[in-house]
Amino acid sequence: MALHDDRKEYVKGSLDDRWMNADPFVQFQAWMDEFRATGAEDATAFALSTVAANGDPDARTVLLKEFREGDLIFYSNYASKKGKDLEAHPRAHALFFWPSLERQIRVLGSVHKISAEESSAYFTSRPLGSQWGAAASQQSQPIASREAMEAQWKAIQDQHPDSIPRPEHWGGYAIRAERIEFWQGRASRLHDRIQFTRQPDQIWAAQRLQP
Ligand SMILES: Cc1cc2nc3c(=O)[nH]c(=O)nc-3n(C[C@H](O)[C@H](O)[C@H](O)COP(=O)(O)O)c2cc1C
Repeated sequence: MALHDDRKEYVKGSLDDRWMNADPFVQFQAWMDEFRATGAEDATAFALSTVAANGDPDARTVLLKEFREGDLIFYSNYASKKGKDLEAHPRAHALFFWPSLERQIRVLGSVHKISAEESSAYFTSRPLGSQWGAAASQQSQPIASREAMEAQWKAIQDQHPDSIPRPEHWGGYAIRAERIEFWQGRASRLHDRIQFTRQPDQIWAAQRLQP
């Protein structure tokens, strides 16, 4: 069957205009809780878009590890491709797509590194295998072979068999939300879209957008 023959109706929910008075962070948390409760795998995954120094966009999946006071926290390698993009342009876009609920959330914001203490606390809470992996990988750099990567990993494991300090190149980023759009699929493509934009006085303005 041709791709263009895939069709569905979106009928699982709605956003009425009372939503416009809602706190977008409370809504975000409520939707996230609902999606996690479905038992979906990698429920916290989102597409993180960045812009490179030369203006090229890029996107990859990362995991949301915390949502606090309007900041979306994720962890990565500061020297990775995304790390370099964020140095050049400390802004990012986060896209969550939850097909089983027919929902999408889009978040735009500025990005900053969280404190070294916070990054270390999270790093040490991860399983030792993940710690070795983070320390062994020069994320986004080329390597000659799988064997070479495994040898690098083994060397780190031998060096730090029991515990390992957080490498300086690894830590958390916070996306400070400035614009959040909630999308709920509706019948006949008349989808609901409510977009919140942060105002200078920290108040949020809400607007319904055409689908
Ligand atoms: C489900 C899933 C979750 C991932 N979570 C993370 C993550 O939390 N942090 C991270 O650095 N990379 C994560 N990755 C790997 C990234 O998608 C990407 O390959 C890596 O960060 C390198 O990206 P870059 O070269 O653009 O910096 C994840 C990949 C998948 C498929």
